[in-house]
Amino acid sequence: ETNLSENLPLKGKKVLITAGPTYEAIDPVRFIGNFSTGKMGIAIANEAVKQGAEVHLVLGPSAEKNIDENIHLHRVVSADDMYQAAINQFDTSDIAILSAAVADYTPKIKALEKIKKKEANLTLELVSTTDILATLGKQKKQQILIGFALETNNELENAKHKLNRKNLDGIVLNSLKDKGAGFGTDTNKITFITPENEISFPLKNKTEVAKDILAQILKLQK
Ligand code: CTP
Ligand code: CA
Repeated sequence: ETNLSENLPLKGKKVLITAGPTYEAIDPVRFIGNFSTGKMGIAIANEAVKQGAEVHLVLGPSAEKNIDENIHLHRVVSADDMYQAAINQFDTSDIAILSAAVADYTPKIKALEKIKKKEANLTLELVSTTDILATLGKQKKQQILIGFALETNNELENAKHKLNRKNLDGIVLNSLKDKGAGFGTDTNKITFITPENEISFPLKNKTEVAKDILAQILKLQK
C-alpha cells in the first residue's frame, strides 16, 4: 500500500498510545483483568506510523499480532507498570491517546505464595490505581491529550464529564450498546467529543475508525 504521493500528516510528531487491558496480580498464578483486546489502540498506532509519526505504544497483555514493526513497543502488565511507561514518554510527546482499559482497582495485598482453598468465601481487598489519563491531564503542556470513554448509560453526559475532569482536548466515546462495537470486535462506532463540539461516525472497521480519530486530532493542533 505504498504510494509515492501519500502524504504524511504526522511526520515529525511523537505520538504516545496506551492500549489493551491490565492484569492486577492476586498471587503468583492469578490476576484480575478485563476483556479488552487492544485492537482499537493498536489500529491507531499502526495508522499513526503509516502517517509518519514516531509512535510509542504502551501495551498491556494483548494477544494481537498485527503490530507494525516501526512502532516503539513498551509491553506492560499492571496499571502501575502502564503508568510508569506512559509518564516516561509523555514529556516529549506531541500527542497522547490513552485507549487502554486500565484496572480501576488492584488487590491491596499481592500474596507471595499461591492462595490455598480454605473457607467457603474469600474476600479480596482492592485499592484504587493511579488514573494515568488524569495525571497526564495535570502535567499537560504542549501535548494534545485524548482519552477514551466506554459507557453503558448516560453516554454523552458521562463522556463530557470525563473530558472536563481529566483536562482533555478530546475524548472518543465508544458505545457498548451498538452491535459490533467495543471489545473483541473488528468494528467500532464512535463519537469524537471536544470542548467545542461532537461528531458521530457510523459503524466502521477499526482501521477506518483509527483514520477518523487521527484526522479529528490533527484538526486540534495547537
Ligand atoms: N484511564 C487511565 N488510567 C486509569 C483509568 C482510566 O488512563 N487508571 C483512562 C482510560 O485509558 C480512558 C479514560 O481514562 O482513556 C477513561 O476510562 P474509563 O474507564 O472510561 O473512565 P474512568 O475515569 O476510569 O471512570 P469509570 O470507569 O468509573 O467510568
Ligand atoms: Ca475505569
